[in-house]
Amino acid sequence: MAFVLSHAYSGILLWWKNRKAKKNIDSYSKENTSSSARYAAFTGSFIFIFLVTHWATFWYKFNFDMQGMSYYEVVLGDEVGFANPFFSVFYIVAIALLGYHLKHGFSSAGQTLGIVGTEYEKLYNNLSIIFWFWIPLGFISIPLWFGFLVRLI
Ligand code: HEM
Repeated sequence: MAFVLSHAYSGILLWWKNRKAKKNIDSYSKENTSSSARYAAFTGSFIFIFLVTHWATFWYKFNFDMQGMSYYEVVLGDEVGFANPFFSVFYIVAIALLGYHLKHGFSSAGQTLGIVGTEYEKLYNNLSIIFWFWIPLGFISIPLWFGFLVRLI
């Protein structure tokens, strides 16, 4: 929780400083940054909203309000689970944005750690795809399957 909050704090601070600094050179800065970097503040904020919602629903229910229900009844139910299309769509969008946020995170970490421009850059980029694309896709498969696809078969 402390890391999440300090990451959010430094991210917002950086976004604010950038905003002030590039007021007059907007078109210039756009050419030099990737879209995942430019949207990091937006995707990060959405992930924060997702996490708060996730805790207020699944986590709260699992820890304080199960009322004898099973795991599957909660996760697949229509109260906070994937039988409710709102939650399914919300999870799919939020996890896709989480993947996009991580894409920027990995490229930024690659710069910081000095991997970019070395012989390891290609390996690093290929490995990072597992974390920003394949693992989030695995998470997305749950609301996609239980929220929509399972109803079609
Ligand atoms: C389809 C996707 C997901 C499902 C079905 C799911 C399900 C759950 C459930 C059932 C709990 C409560 C567990 C318990 O308290 O025993 C939980 C807690 C939690 N989830 Fe998720 N989750 C999903 C995606 C995510 C994602 C993408 C994140 C991170 C961005 C995340 C972060 C957390 C955290 C931090 C907790 C609280 C810690 C804990 O109780 O261990 N979840 N999740």
